[in-house]
Formats: sequence, structure tokens, C-alpha cells
Amino acid sequence: MLLPSFLLLLSLAVFAAAADYYKILDVHKSASEKDIRAAYKRLSKKWHPDKNKSPGAEDRFVEIARAYEILSDVKKREIYDRHGEEGLKAHEGGQQHGGNPFDMFQNFFGGHHHQQTRKGPSSLTEFEVSLADVYAGGSIDFMIKKKILCDHCRGSGAASDGDIHTCTSCNGQGVKLVKQQIFPGMFAQSQVTCNECGGRGKVIKRRCPHCQGNKVMDHTAHYTLDVIAGMPEGHEVVFEGEADESPDWEAGDVVLRVRSKKETGGFRRKESSLYWKETIGVDEALLGFERNLTHLDGRTVPLVRKGVTQPGYVQVIKGEGMPLFNRHEQHGDLFVEYNVVLPTEVTPLMRRKFAEAFQLSSATHDEL
Ligand SMILES: *[C@@H]1O[C@H](CO)[C@@H](O)[C@H](O)[C@H]1NC(C)=O
Ligand SMILES: [Zn+2]
Ligand SMILES: [Zn+2]
Repeated sequence: MLLPSFLLLLSLAVFAAAADYYKILDVHKSASEKDIRAAYKRLSKKWHPDKNKSPGAEDRFVEIARAYEILSDVKKREIYDRHGEEGLKAHEGGQQHGGNPFDMFQNFFGGHHHQQTRKGPSSLTEFEVSLADVYAGGSIDFMIKKKILCDHCRGSGAASDGDIHTCTSCNGQGVKLVKQQIFPGMFAQSQVTCNECGGRGKVIKRRCPHCQGNKVMDHTAHYTLDVIAGMPEGHEVVFEGEADESPDWEAGDVVLRVRSKKETGGFRRKESSLYWKETIGVDEALLGFERNLTHLDGRTVPLVRKGVTQPGYVQVIKGEGMPLFNRHEQHGDLFVEYNVVLPTEVTPLMRRKFAEAFQLSSATHDEL
């Protein structure tokens, strides 16, 4: 039942007066294939009616699909550039053009079969940040060394467009038919990749002086990682399309796997809980104490015990653990484990006093 109204929409989009496909995709007339793909990738996601509930989003999405259909097709783009919408209509000759823009979207994002949509390798990097940054959240600048398309030749490897020639050996086909005689008078034909052009169908006369014909160059790119307070350990942050560029693929992603640094004697984290070890003296263990613990954000958290504290006792301080990821204002708990150190030596006076005190305590015990 959806189909008829959908087709109607499609025809409205097509027969509306002179749509400017470049404007729709927000690209320049000289935009490269890659720019057009990038624009479609960005805009189709933004306007997909599953995600964008604003009125007119669907029309916009259909328009974007149509613009991409034309501009990503070398032949259609040429006709459109020369003869505009009218020329295209003549070319399409009333036949059902294009496909369902939703299928197109699906193929674009889900399909790896098409050669031009091949994605380059993604990189995965373990990235350590301080626990204080995970506690409070923060921005961390970092750099990545990667390959980018040469900005002089835009990845063609040629000094100028005029230096790219159709391969004469294969007539630009990238492949050649080879006839082999298998028996006298009997030939077999097979297709082999053209060795003159390496199957590209094009040869370069003068190499780009900028990249020496390598098409790509070394580049150090700067990024900022936003550490969200309470980010889980091993959380992966994706920088889409930021891996090595190449004219042969759509750049893969840079993925950072974020973990907190373990510092000796520091706080330990387990999910939303924080653990701390505090060492107290035997006097404090017996008589109670007040201490100050400096938290990850520099705040002071009072540690107060009134009675006896056994070695290994764990005090739970509610709400002083890690913030919950994406639920700011809520925190886990802090667990403080007490370690008791005994004095290495006892003076004769202390010895007498201790003896008295413990006799007293055992006497009190007996009375009870
Ligand atoms: C703990 O810190 C507070 C202020 O931050 C201060 O008033 C108090 O005296 C400190 N207590 C100890 C035992 O250092
Ligand atoms: Zn170059
Ligand atoms: Zn060739």
C-alpha cells in the first residue's frame, strides 16, 4: 500500500522545475566523485525519515537520492551538466529511472559488493586516559599519522588532468582479450588484465610532482577525544572515515578503545565502583579517627571512624564512586579498605602502659 504514494512522491520530485542537483547535495560543480559520495553519505543519513521526523524530511531524502543517482553516474552527470534536467529526461526516455531511494540508501551503507563503495582498512588503537578524566569528563587532543589523498592531483597521481590518457593498449578497458591457439586451427580467447595500465584503463604521462605519482601523502591529523564522564572501560569511540585515504577506497574508520590508566597507589575502578586503600595506625584502628581523602576531582572526602577498625575492614561511602555513563548526577559507591600498621618498636614506657590497658580491658571483660 505504501508503493503508490511513494511513486507519486518520486514523480513530483522528478517533474518539479529544474532541480539543482549540486545545490541539493551541497557540493561544487567541480566536486569529485568522492566529494559527492561524502555529501550523499552525510545528507542521506541526516534526512532519512526513520531518523528525521521534521515535515518534509522524506521529500528531502528522495531529492537527495535522485541528486546522488545523477551525479554519481559519470554519463548522467555529463548529460545533466550539458543539457540539464530536460536532457536527462530525454535520455531516460520515459523509462522508469533509478530505483527506490530507500534501497539505494541500504545498498550504499550496507553493500560492499560495489567496487566504488569498498571501504579501506580501519584502525583500532588502545587509548589510555587518566581515571580523573573518566571521572570528571574531559577533552584530550591527539594526533594520528595517516595517508591522505594528494591535494595537488586529488589522488589521480598525474601532474594535470591532461596527463591522464586512455590506455592505448587496452583502449581504456583495463582488460585485453588474448587469443591462444590450443590446437592447430583452434583458438581459445581469454581475458587478462592489461599490463600497460594495471587494469585501470588509464595511463599517466607526467606524474604529479607533489606526491611523485603516489596519489597519497603523509599527513599528521589532529583530533579531540571527548571523554564522557563514566565512560565504560574499553569503550570504543569511532572517528568515521578518518583512516588512511586512497583513491581505491572509501577511507575506513579510526577507532579508539578507551581505558583508564592504572596508577600504583591510586584509585581502582570496577564499573561504577571505586576502590581505595587507606593505611591507618594502630592508635587510629583502636580509638577511631578523622582523615581527609582527596578525590579524583580534588575534592576532600572525610573518612570518619568512631570505634575499632579491623584490618581489612571496608567502609562503603555512598555516591562517591564513578559517575554513571550517560546518567550524570548519579554515581556508584566508593569502597575504602583499611590497612593497619603496627609500630616497629615499643618503648618500655609504652609497653607498661599497653600492658596496663590490656589487663584493664580483659578485667572488664571478665566482669561482664
Ligand atoms: C579536612 O578538610 C577540612 C576542609 O576541607 C578541614 O576543615 C579539616 O580540618 C580537615 N581534617 C583533617 C583531619 O585534616
Ligand atoms: Zn599528487
Ligand atoms: Zn591498459
